[in-house]
Amino acid sequence: MTAPGLDTRAQRVPPPGGMPPPPDGLISVWWATTDVAPSVVESLRADLDRDTLGRVNALVREEDRHRAILAHGLLRRLVAACLGLAPSAISIDRTCANCGAADHGKPTLAGFASAARPPLQFNLAHSGNVVAVALAGPGTEVGIDVEAIQPQMRWSTIRRHVFSDAEWNDTGEAENPTTERFALWARKEAAAKTTGHGLAIDLRHVRIDGPTGPAGFRAGTLEAPERDYPLVVADLPIGHATSAAVAALTSAGAPSVPLTMQLIRADLRD
Ligand SMILES: CC(C)(COP(=O)(O)OP(=O)(O)OC[C@H]1O[C@@H](n2cnc3c(N)ncnc32)[C@H](O)[C@@H]1OP(=O)(O)O)[C@@H](O)C(=O)NCCC(=O)NCCS
Ligand SMILES: [Zn+2]
Repeated sequence: MTAPGLDTRAQRVPPPGGMPPPPDGLISVWWATTDVAPSVVESLRADLDRDTLGRVNALVREEDRHRAILAHGLLRRLVAACLGLAPSAISIDRTCANCGAADHGKPTLAGFASAARPPLQFNLAHSGNVVAVALAGPGTEVGIDVEAIQPQMRWSTIRRHVFSDAEWNDTGEAENPTTERFALWARKEAAAKTTGHGLAIDLRHVRIDGPTGPAGFRAGTLEAPERDYPLVVADLPIGHATSAAVAALTSAGAPSVPLTMQLIRADLRD
């Protein structure tokens, strides 16, 4: 079954070594719906390393395990395509920049200790019936978020941690406040995932300033205790039941190179 609005032409992920990493300034977003054949899920699962498999198996709900296998399987195929490695040979570091714990930081590529930075930046998200991976060059920190829109959302707690009063009121005046709020929430979470703070930061400290520039990006700022982070954020049109956004860290308030984005639906067939 294909969700409405998600019928764009899909591309297969190239084989290992079959595509160059994105140059700095280009963000490649690959996404897929979760309606994938069981044989494909098995082959994606076979590419996961022990650590990722352990984390997947610890998830209680079958649908969460399914989404995590697809997201991590897609990530591995993409990294393999860019770096010429076998998908199963990729290892991921999750060290938290905030507290040093090994298990809940922003995932990065491990095994590039001798290089100044990993040759590829990435981030992933999974929610509802969508998984998505953002890839960028070594100098472009990226974050991505996907939120399944819940028409009957109970906002009371979320509202206090996500939106300022002005944002809540402004989005309330939109034609569809629920859609607008999910869109803003996805933008803010993509920003917080870019810097690696995640939900360790109160999303009210992320401001998306707009307006949208020609390449679809708008400016934003994440105000962390240690410093302010200038960001750009773009919405990802991947279906009317889903809000999604990608963000990138910029330097000194402007991207060091012009940012562009490509959005590709992944064809996950055997
Ligand atoms: C990252 C986070 C925002 C994810 O939110 P979510 O809506 O549940 O899930 P999403 O689908 O958007 O993203 C999940 C993916 O983001 C990535 N991720 C995890 N932590 C991340 C971080 N700090 N920054 C960026 N990305 C992160 C992971 O790949 C994760 O998927 P995985 O666990 O299957 O690998 C949330 O889990 C979080 O904030 N975690 C860290 C909290 C923290 O750091 N607490 C204490 C700090 S000392
Ligand atoms: Zn931590």
